[in-house]
Amino acid sequence: MTHPLDPPADPFEVARRAADDIASLTGVERHDIAVTLGSGWGKAADLIGETVATVPATEVTGFSRPALEGHVGTLRSVRTAQGRHVLVIGARTHYYEGHGVRRVVHSVRTAAASGATTMVLTNGAGGIRETWAPGQPVLISDHINLTADTPLEGATFIDMTDLYSARLRAVAREVDPTLDEGVYCQFRGPQYETPAEVRMARAIGGDIVGMSTALEAIAARQAGMEVLGFSLITNLAAGISPTPLSHEEVIEAGREAEGRISRLLADVIGRVAS
Ligand code: HPA
Repeated sequence: MTHPLDPPADPFEVARRAADDIASLTGVERHDIAVTLGSGWGKAADLIGETVATVPATEVTGFSRPALEGHVGTLRSVRTAQGRHVLVIGARTHYYEGHGVRRVVHSVRTAAASGATTMVLTNGAGGIRETWAPGQPVLISDHINLTADTPLEGATFIDMTDLYSARLRAVAREVDPTLDEGVYCQFRGPQYETPAEVRMARAIGGDIVGMSTALEAIAARQAGMEVLGFSLITNLAAGISPTPLSHEEVIEAGREAEGRISRLLADVIGRVAS
């Protein structure tokens, strides 16, 4: 089955079409900020502001998938108290799904084509630092991309210094001065890491292990957006945790922390948007 993003399509042209779909389906011509809600961050959409429109992602070009693969989530247009427009992306395609990086970063490129100049990426992830506890949100200060893949095609050389904006991290700390930060290592997944892989991640400078955000951040930078990244530590990483990891544990930690961290995220977005 062909997909709109399959070569020879131009992924940026497909993103422009997706942005046009969002404009016509939501009635909001341009968005200022976009936020992708990962595990545990879902309640933020209701706290950011007033939902102007909710669109099933399947109605937006390039987000559609072959029928059997199930639910892809929604895109929401939310208006903040200051009258700014936030595109809330509740539809993430993971690299481990095996559909290629174009589909992984399509939501980010669509956000940029919709006018967003700030991309807020959130996820649930494993923590390598023993001082961190499940349920704790941390800022992403930098990343190590261990997928051996990239959303950049051809000889596209893009600077990654200050990818996770120091300015936006400072804004987040104005909201919560206790926020710690760390380096996010993206593994391909979907298996969780082995303890040896976690030791390697620590040895090379990683603090957080996950399966989503680095590739998205690279695409956001390519699109010229300012990036803010948050991880919810849903579990201590394999070998750091005394018990085996389970998907249920990850989901449960997200559920427990959801109210608190969603409030934090909404407050940070309120400041960034003001
Ligand atoms: N590793 C990778 N991804 C994750 C983890 C983890 O420990 N927890 C939640 N997502």
